[in-house]
Amino acid sequence: MKKNVIALTLGAAMVMTITAAAAEFSTVEEGKLYMATNAAFPPYEMTTDDGGFEGIDVEIAGAIAEKLGLELVVDDMEFGSTITSVQAGKDDMVMAGLTVTEERKQNIDFTNSYSTGVQVVIVPEDSDIETVDDLADDKMIGCQEGTTGYIYCSDTVENGGYGEDHVVAYTNGAMAVQALLTGKVDAVVIDSNPAKAFVEANEGLKILDTEYVVEDYAIGVSKENPELLEAINNALVELQEDGTVDAIVGKYINADADEEAATE
Ligand code: ARG
Repeated sequence: MKKNVIALTLGAAMVMTITAAAAEFSTVEEGKLYMATNAAFPPYEMTTDDGGFEGIDVEIAGAIAEKLGLELVVDDMEFGSTITSVQAGKDDMVMAGLTVTEERKQNIDFTNSYSTGVQVVIVPEDSDIETVDDLADDKMIGCQEGTTGYIYCSDTVENGGYGEDHVVAYTNGAMAVQALLTGKVDAVVIDSNPAKAFVEANEGLKILDTEYVVEDYAIGVSKENPELLEAINNALVELQEDGTVDAIVGKYINADADEEAATE
């Protein structure tokens, strides 16, 4: 009998701690977790035929929301609006294959990283561009506006870019790839996993072996909501430790195919 009482007391204490921890953060709408994203970035976020959303970020965000006892709401918009939307308090977090940069850190706080991103170059199969250095020979490069790919490519030659006049910004990656297919640009610089998806979906394109820039993806949260940042980060770390994040990534990215490609 005595044992039971102790167990009950402990149980009650645990419930109280959880409630207390949950009460510490606030979200845009009670009971919901609003995720700002640009769902044109496979396999991280994309739309489904029935108007829903899927992808690595969408599923990790869903698992985080579940851990926090919240319902995930995906807020789809242009990539360039995602950070400002969180800053303006319209969304709770940005999850959009979002690269951590020093400049963005001035505007939002980031969680731990959950994935590596690599900027790669897509060219037509018969292109004379063989390495990233060949992009410097007066080539036109297509990028998605507001992305790190655009930021790096449009930078000055001294800073490792190709100059603003050599870069065209498109609303999304698919449109940049369309411009490449129709010969409006000579190459597209974009994150490697979306690049693979676009190359698979279109005939006659290939990805160069040389990588342009390696970066980290993380979740962005308002600087005014450190409690939410901590709650999201704790949930993320738990999901990384228990293998959930790996399982979600494995569902969308075929690791075996990557290994085969690497040993070819
Ligand atoms: N990683 C790049 C960046 O942060 C591109 C992200 C684009 N994401 C998207 N959902 N369209 O700038």
